[in-house]
Amino acid sequence: MLLQQSGFGIAVTGSGSCTPQVTLDNNGLSQMVETSDEWIVARTGIRYRRLADDRTSLCDLAVTAARRAIEMARLAPADIDLIVLATSSPDDLFGSAGQIQYQLGATKAVAFDLTAACSGFVFGLVTASQFIRTGVYQNVLLIGADILSRWVNWSDRGTCILFGDGAGAVVLQAAETDSLLGFEIRSDGTQNASLNLAYKAESKALIEGVTIGQGGFHPITMNGQEIYRFAVKKVPEVIEKAVFRANISVAEIDWLLLHQANQRILDAVAQRLNIPAQKVISNLANYGNTSAASIPIALDEAVREGKIKRGDTIAAAGFGAGLSWGCAIFQWGASK
Ligand code: ACO
Repeated sequence: MLLQQSGFGIAVTGSGSCTPQVTLDNNGLSQMVETSDEWIVARTGIRYRRLADDRTSLCDLAVTAARRAIEMARLAPADIDLIVLATSSPDDLFGSAGQIQYQLGATKAVAFDLTAACSGFVFGLVTASQFIRTGVYQNVLLIGADILSRWVNWSDRGTCILFGDGAGAVVLQAAETDSLLGFEIRSDGTQNASLNLAYKAESKALIEGVTIGQGGFHPITMNGQEIYRFAVKKVPEVIEKAVFRANISVAEIDWLLLHQANQRILDAVAQRLNIPAQKVISNLANYGNTSAASIPIALDEAVREGKIKRGDTIAAAGFGAGLSWGCAIFQWGASK
């Protein structure tokens, strides 16, 4: 898994993002459930979240984010060979990547969905990079997009305060120099019950002796304290492992780009790794937890603000349902 040694390198050459117009602030939430702006800010750092209205599809957000990323990479949609859509909330359970391919006009691209909840972007980055590394594809579009507002229980104050909707995208290209320095991705299904959006079957007899289950998905359920403990323990470990694989030191990380779940988790992870606060990217106050979209939205904002510069080393780490978690260490931008 040492990535610099052979074959084709990877460059991350473009980013884009898109969040819905509708904003819900903490005071708005306190009209719906027993909570307050003070509680939410103190326990999570979240102040606002953007919500997709009933006419906005996941594809709408994803296509806009993707167009921006493709433009930054100075490519055209027809140049894209592969589209990977990381999402847990597709418009279509059969997959939404094909619809995005069509709407973008990415006529030669093959497209598929990848599900790994809030780790989806990091898992997608690792997956997409394999196709470049083996020389199969040159230009890959990776999108992280979720509309979890569709699946939140809006009367559960323990979860409804956390989530928002959005999409972010990056373009990965084959390059001589390799910017994906190392990664580590992990799963632990034993803790699945701590956070899920599970299918619940209801028995339906078709004919005598043939009964199937036909039901729907539950709203998101979460044991917040367990997920908190899991994140604070496992995320620093997986970052250290990826740092080791990248053959760098933690001090060489320019930006810590964590899944934007909770400011207290960001602070605790940074503290455990001795990474100073000014290297930690955080935009969760404005968007809440946008699941697979949170890392690429935060990346795109930091790139467009001029904070992240070409050649900067980024440790991106996702964590969430599955349970799943992982870290990818990469350098931003086309090689010089
Ligand atoms: N407003 C006011 N009070 C609340 C609220 C609220 N919104 N939610 C819970 N409380 C109450 C609880 O009922 C409890 O009251 P009690 O002591 O009388 O029983 C008290 O506040 C403390 O509750 P805790 O759950 O212990 O609060 P905690 O400090 O753990 O914060 C939180 C809860 C914010 C959910 C935190 O546990 C957390 O962020 N966990 C991680 C969640 C996460 O990161 N998920 C990421 C993965 S998401 C994905 O993959 C899809």
